[in-house]
Amino acid sequence: MLARSDFRSDTVTQPDAAMREAMAAAVVGDDVFGDDPTVQQLEAHAAALLGKDAALFLPSGTMANQVAVRVHTRPGDEVILHEGCHVYRFEQGGLAALHGVQAVPLPGAAGQVPLAALRGALRPDDQHFPRSRLIVLENTHNLCGGVVLPQTYVTQVRDLADELGLQLHLDGARLANAAAASGSSIASAAAPAHSVTLCLSKGLGAPVGTMLAGSREFCSAARRARKLLGGGMRQAGVLAAAGLVALSDWLPRLQRDHLLARQLAASLATIPGVLVQPPETNLVVLTLESAPQEAVRAFLARAGVLCVGFGPGRLRFAVHRDVSEVDVERAVSALQAAMTTGGA
Ligand SMILES: Cc1ncc(COP(=O)(O)O)c(C=O)c1O
Repeated sequence: MLARSDFRSDTVTQPDAAMREAMAAAVVGDDVFGDDPTVQQLEAHAAALLGKDAALFLPSGTMANQVAVRVHTRPGDEVILHEGCHVYRFEQGGLAALHGVQAVPLPGAAGQVPLAALRGALRPDDQHFPRSRLIVLENTHNLCGGVVLPQTYVTQVRDLADELGLQLHLDGARLANAAAASGSSIASAAAPAHSVTLCLSKGLGAPVGTMLAGSREFCSAARRARKLLGGGMRQAGVLAAAGLVALSDWLPRLQRDHLLARQLAASLATIPGVLVQPPETNLVVLTLESAPQEAVRAFLARAGVLCVGFGPGRLRFAVHRDVSEVDVERAVSALQAAMTTGGA
């Protein structure tokens, strides 16, 4: 079989030997009864890391976001968010389908809706209008190319939320990347949010799992909502054990992925007809000036280099633990060849 250089997502990593050993050796209980010691250990560790009172282990980032929305809102409420954010774009309309809430999607460069626009979206207290309830931010912002939200912006959004009586949820699927890139702690990046997620199964390399953190009261309501959505797991310590390895072994290594992403971007940028957005973290997004996106992506796949289409004319390469400098060189040569032939 052709060896693959898999840049489709940072979710494609294989659990390493230490994770598999920890999973095999995990002491487990029944987490719905609240007595799985390994899940408890992971939740305590994640709460401290995220600087919150408590944390909850969930199967996925999507479920963690949806649980947070469920806890913060009531049917008929409005959620104000960036038009390109995961909660709005990539969660099957869960806001409406699962919770009966209405989205107010707003534009903004680099994942940042201007403060004036957020303020302008607030509904007056009037019986005709829905109630504005929640602001959602995403850091790093996937669709904007893995960009890091400036901490001053996140803090200003929290101040605004306090002034307007709104809650702030932070989709921090890649918050560890944001913290590594800005040289801050994960806790300080999460501090302004009432609730925050952190995916263990993206750059941190665990096979499954997302942490959702907030106040004790929030997390006890989230535990209930998680059960409703089918996310109550039993001997989940087997999975939590891999998450603990992800936090101890792989969290400190994210800078390496960012460095490799910059190397990839610099080399891809030398190819005629390719415009590369300078990466801030582990995601490299390029725009093809005129070559057909799907033909180029398919050409790369035939050469064993996998990436994803990312909107018209755009391709995304995610750098992660399981890609090496050899994979980067291969991706560059394959794109050079694709651009020479126009993907034919
Ligand atoms: C920013 C962001 N939030 C949430 C998710 C959802 O995570 P999951 O795939 O674990 O549901 C993703 C997935 O890629 C993401 O990029």
